[in-house]
Amino acid sequence: SDPALVARARAAKEALGDSVFVLGHHYQRDEVIQFADVTGDSFKLARDAAARPQAPYIVFCGVHFMAESADILTGADQKVILPDLAAGCSMADMATFDQVEDCWDALADAGIADRVVPVTYMNSSADIKGFVGRHGGVVCTSSNAKRALDWAFAQGEQVLFLPDQHLGRNTAVLEMGLSLDDCVVYNPRRPSGGLTREQLQNAKMILWQGHCSVHGRFSKAAVDEVRERVPGVNVLVHPECRHEVVNAADLVGSTEYIIKALDAAEPGSSWAIGTELNLVKRLANAHPDKNVMFLDKAVCFCSTMNRIDLPHLVWALESLVRGEVPNQITVDAETAHYAKVALDQMLALP
Ligand code: 13P
Ligand code: SF4
Repeated sequence: SDPALVARARAAKEALGDSVFVLGHHYQRDEVIQFADVTGDSFKLARDAAARPQAPYIVFCGVHFMAESADILTGADQKVILPDLAAGCSMADMATFDQVEDCWDALADAGIADRVVPVTYMNSSADIKGFVGRHGGVVCTSSNAKRALDWAFAQGEQVLFLPDQHLGRNTAVLEMGLSLDDCVVYNPRRPSGGLTREQLQNAKMILWQGHCSVHGRFSKAAVDEVRERVPGVNVLVHPECRHEVVNAADLVGSTEYIIKALDAAEPGSSWAIGTELNLVKRLANAHPDKNVMFLDKAVCFCSTMNRIDLPHLVWALESLVRGEVPNQITVDAETAHYAKVALDQMLALP
């Protein structure tokens, strides 16, 4: 990265001292990660943000829904800053508040709203988390989805899982022993989700038709190809990948899990990783004694994660040095209240 920008970022961080806390998601660029006070998956970052009450400014190097969650979990005197407001998440955008309300009406029409527990993946807007909190549900991340679903099935008989159908299906089928037939997919662009009353009533898991545009591109063919090319390779993928990909992999887990698996791996072992490219490249550099490769060359960076680059970070930090608060992310009090109910429920999972 540009040495002049590196020097400016360093100087601004030094000038700000303990008044700024920089969080970096594992999918961020190296040029940004070098300035993160902590790195993590979305679960760890949500907890880390809440655990730093002394820093008045939290610069969140990640995407919009993560900054919203940090705002919800931090105190009123802490301001959360997203260095580029265009850093959204296409998966989170696949479930809007109005669509989810319509879905709940469809569940009520089918006579099942009182036995469905809504569970939303962290990768959703604060509005959706608020909806879930209002209806007795819970937030989950890729590292606690099974625990969240166990909890939800103890509260009700069916689950509405938002917005990532793949995480929902993979957790239900591969970790909880449900069958593919127990799952239906609710399409928000069709009346009643394109499902009959019987389908809605009989499903254990009602999966929202959303997905990650990055992880959804890994293919089973890529798993077959790497197994043929690299004997003994360990295939390790994120649970946002499609079911057939996760099913064909050796290991599945969140970004934090993937990092720990590589730390524990034997020297000389081979690893094909199915997650975002910035993280895979960093893992390959960090483990020169292991053969670390990207699972599928057809897949590229998460373009919205990549919007946070060093120029945006420098701009945000230097604005703070000048006493300005750029790109503050705030969630209105009522939404934040109910979203926090669902987030606190997640943090309290056994
Ligand atoms: P985790 O870091 O929780 O594994 O999530 C991955 C992701 O897609 C974040 O956008
Ligand atoms: Fe969203 Fe996928 Fe990017 Fe994560 S990797 S921020 S889920 S689009």
